[in-house]
Formats: sequence, structure tokens, C-alpha cells
Amino acid sequence: MKNTAGSAARPRLLLIGSNGQVGWELRRTLAGIGEVVAASIEGEAGPVVDLMDPSSLARLIDEARPDAVVNAAAYTAVDKAESDRETAKRINADAVAEMAALLAERGTPIVHYSTDFVFSGNLNRAYTEDDTPDPLNVYGETKLGGERALLESGARALVFRTSWVYGARGANFLLTMMRLFREREELRVVDDQIGSPTWSRMLAEMTAMVLYRVLRGDLDLDRVGGLYNLTGSGQVSWYGFASAILEASGLESNLIPIPSSEYQAPAKRPTYSVLDNGRFQEAFGLAMPDWRLSLGQCLEELKR
Ligand SMILES: NC(=O)c1ccc[n+]([C@@H]2O[C@H](COP(=O)([O-])OP(=O)(O)OC[C@H]3O[C@@H](n4cnc5c(N)ncnc54)[C@H](OP(=O)(O)O)[C@@H]3O)[C@@H](O)[C@H]2O)c1
Repeated sequence: MKNTAGSAARPRLLLIGSNGQVGWELRRTLAGIGEVVAASIEGEAGPVVDLMDPSSLARLIDEARPDAVVNAAAYTAVDKAESDRETAKRINADAVAEMAALLAERGTPIVHYSTDFVFSGNLNRAYTEDDTPDPLNVYGETKLGGERALLESGARALVFRTSWVYGARGANFLLTMMRLFREREELRVVDDQIGSPTWSRMLAEMTAMVLYRVLRGDLDLDRVGGLYNLTGSGQVSWYGFASAILEASGLESNLIPIPSSEYQAPAKRPTYSVLDNGRFQEAFGLAMPDWRLSLGQCLEELKR
């Protein structure tokens, strides 16, 4: 495969946040298209990087000399961010701006992820990339800061806005529900927030397929770079998602739908944050599977 540096060697892919739920999937999927340098805050599978420390990022990029970067690191504790704005901003916005400047200078492509939480959910139809963000919480504000900094930096960037990410690893709704089904006879789950569950594996696979074409020179980021919604297809409430998990897992629990007003949390969340994936499908000729299909596959894998 040719890489962007023009050599015949396998491209070097710097993966930042390789220990998160999406990062862990990316480690495997990106290995199919290049040599992965798996950086994380713990440094367990590669170099250490702490996005709180700008010099750590600059050093990492200097030493790794990547042909492309995938940034899966983020401050994702949505409720905690409300009382820890500075840290969330540093990791989700300032560090992304620094990354963007370093990579723009080098002409190195980057894939980064953002969130449906950049929207308030007041629109009542699927959001497109042209809709104006209006985040309700600190996490959404800081993620918006990061995506804007990257897109305005002149870096050759793809920003994938995703939502409701779950998988076989990490802190996510699927694993929390499976645990609670075993621990409790009755569970109350919010039924008036609607979104699109996204399997971390599918997000990683779509990323690898698109990046492969970028690195081969088949896709020109000067033409197709930018912001794309990328979520599982279809939509459901948290209660509906929990019901589907319960049914497919074969576990038992009494699920009770409740309104958001009965579930007190520090961060406000959008009531309807479905993202329209049309732009991604058109640009890359790829579509994410229906969320139910991915959930079934993920649960099959968990059972194995
Ligand atoms: N999860 C969702 O539902 C969701 C929804 C929409 C968008 N997204 C976006 O999707 C992307 C991937 O999210 P995810 O679900 O995979 O998140 P995750 O599981 O929380 O992983 C994030 C990773 O970032 C690392 N990290 C945090 N602070 C860091 C720092 N100072 N320096 C270096 N690394 C640091 C974390 O390390 P530690 O675990 O050691 O702290 C973790 O490995 C993020 O951009 C996120 O905003 C996620």
C-alpha cells in the first residue's frame, strides 16, 4: 500500500486513546491497514500520552512521525464534567486544538470523534451537519470546541459525530444494563430521550475503511474532509434500548419506563439527538447497520 509519505511501507497510524471503548476496537481494525502506534494515558500497549500536558502530545507526534492520527481520547464523563469544566475543556477542546496545529503544520491527516450532545434536541427531526449546535451541557460545549478548533485549523481532518456508543468493553449503557439485570429485580429507565445506539466495533470499522482509502490516495481530504454524522441506523429511547438488551441477552428483570424528570443527573441531556447519516453515506458509499443488528452481534460476541 502507498502511504501519504509516498513510501511503499505500511503506513504508521498513531492512535491516541487506545484504551477507551472505541480506541480498543480501533487497535484491531486499524492493524488491518497499517502499523498501529497505540498511545494511551497508561501506556500499556504503546507510548504514554497525557492530553492534560501539551508537551506530551508534541513529543508523541514528533517521535511517532505518523502518516495519520486517529484521536479516540476524550473526557467522556458527562455528569462529572459539569463540576470539572477546566479538565473537560483541556482534553476535549484545548488538546484537540494543539493536535490540530501540530498536524496542520505537517499535513498529516487526522480522524477525530465528536458527539450528538453538541445539540439540545429541540429540533424533533434528525440533525444534519448544517444544523447549528446548541449544547445543553459542559461535555457537549467542550466537544464542540474541539471539533471547531480542528475544522478551522487547516488540518486535513475527518470529524465523525457519533452517539450512544456501547461495546464489549469500557463504561457503557449495554454493560451497565447487563450488570443491573443481574443485580436488581426492577429497573427504571428513561423513555423520553431518543437517540441512535452505536456499536464501537462498527465505528472503528467505518473509520478503518475510510482511512484506508485516504492513505491509498483514493480519497482526497482537501475535497472530502470535514464533519460527518456517523451513528448506528435507526432510533430508540433508552428504555427501548434497555428492553432490546434484556430480550436479546436472555436475562430477566422488570423494566419500568420513566420520564427524564424522574431521573436526576447533574448534566442536562437532549431529548432527541438522532443524527442524519446521509452525508457520510453519500461521500463514502458506506452505511452503518441498524442498531438492533449490531446489538445482536455484540451480544453474541459477549456470550462467546
Ligand atoms: N461514549 C459515548 O457514548 C460517546 C458518544 C458520542 C461521542 N463519543 C466520542 O467518541 C470518542 C470515543 O469515546 P469512548 O466512548 O471510546 O470514550 P472512553 O471509553 O471514555 O475512552 C476515552 C479514552 O480517553 C482517554 N483519556 C482521558 N483523558 C485522557 C488524557 N488526559 N490523556 C490521554 N487520554 C485520555 C481515557 O483514558 P482513561 O480511561 O484512562 O481515563 C480513555 O481511554 C470520544 O471522542 C467521545 O467523545 C462517545
